[in-house]
Amino acid sequence: MNYYAPLTSENGFFEGHDPYELIERYGSPLYVYNEKILRQKCVEMKKLLKHKNFKVHYSVKANGNIELLKIIKNESVNVDAVSHGEIYIEKNAGFCSSQILFVGNNLTRAEMSAVINEGVRISVDSLSQLKQFGEINKGGEVIVRINPGFGSGHHQKVITAGNYTKFGISYTDCSKIKEIADSYGLKIIGLNMHIGSLFHDKDIYISSIKILLSALNEFPEAYIFDLGGGFGVSYNKIEGVKDHDLSKLFRHVDKLIRDWSLSNDRKLEIIIEPGRYISAECGVLLGTVSSIKSNYMQKYIGTDIGFNVIARTAMYDAYHDIEVYRKKIPGTNHRISFEKCNIVGNICETGDYIAKDKLLPSITEGDLIGVMSAGAYGFSMSSNYNGRLRPAEILIGRNKNVRLIRKRETFEQLMNNF
Ligand code: LLP
Repeated sequence: MNYYAPLTSENGFFEGHDPYELIERYGSPLYVYNEKILRQKCVEMKKLLKHKNFKVHYSVKANGNIELLKIIKNESVNVDAVSHGEIYIEKNAGFCSSQILFVGNNLTRAEMSAVINEGVRISVDSLSQLKQFGEINKGGEVIVRINPGFGSGHHQKVITAGNYTKFGISYTDCSKIKEIADSYGLKIIGLNMHIGSLFHDKDIYISSIKILLSALNEFPEAYIFDLGGGFGVSYNKIEGVKDHDLSKLFRHVDKLIRDWSLSNDRKLEIIIEPGRYISAECGVLLGTVSSIKSNYMQKYIGTDIGFNVIARTAMYDAYHDIEVYRKKIPGTNHRISFEKCNIVGNICETGDYIAKDKLLPSITEGDLIGVMSAGAYGFSMSSNYNGRLRPAEILIGRNKNVRLIRKRETFEQLMNNF
């Protein structure tokens, strides 16, 4: 096999396995995960703060495959949840209630009651949800999500603080929070924030923390301080764009929290909720080139990776590094020449593309495409749109063995629930 695979070759992603053999065995498209990388990311996150009571809660929405969750648990990383369904998966993966943090948004009363009955710690993110929490669970303990007034993220759709988002309670509303808490005997045990996903602006993150720390002064019983997730990974490593230096950012965070704790004589439990940072880079999505055409001067590489398989590029114009894998034909010259092309999927919409106007080795039918850093918000956002099946997921273990961790869907499953 002949590669144009700068990233997976460099980091030994396939641990010596041939992507063609993986596709032959498990079908295409295929999510491939590397256990070693997943574990490394967990370790990196746990080292971010030296604080004695620091906990990492992996944000399961990024990738909820139960086998990956078991590995994450084995690395002593906890989880967050945003729905009762996620709690169900997490408990099946072996997490107990105390390891789960629920960060709710617009729950029905029924779901709120069910989540309360699960015995997990809960954050509510509006005054009306706080009131409902009080009605259902008088005298209960609750965390409140604060909107510090500004946010940051890789796309408008994933900025989750500031003026144009449904999330959180304004930090100027602390007295209203206290009023509701008092009338139901609620104990506000912590504050949380999440300013957005893949935030670029470190200053906004720091300023938000400062605002939350000053809001903490209003809640003397609060000891949980949850700084959310959103930590970036570079999706453009082939061109040399490096990951953010999180350790530098967290030295600053550490100092802010230490100073606050000293001057307020209060010990805090610090939580972060990284999703993407933990699971993005341990995943590569493989797909097959089925056809190639030129339309009005534009070259289209048709693949089986539709936006039912990975939605990020269609939904947020997100960028992913792409690799091309070619089977070596004996006696053939495999010199690579590059050309600009668009990589598209098989869904009946023009927005169904994986890469636009991208310089890649000239691709031929039957080549395999690798979408890099597809382990976060890849499978978890997949669907059956256009009657297409969700792909299989495999894991290359620490021992280099490959195992199937989710079967490819079947036509029969398309008929479930009818
Ligand atoms: N905590 C809360 C409350 C969140 O809403 C999220 C993500 C996270 C933590 C984890 O954020 P992360 O560390 O993964 O950035 N589908 C989008 C991302 C949506 C993120 C939603 N909330 C994408 O593919 O970019």
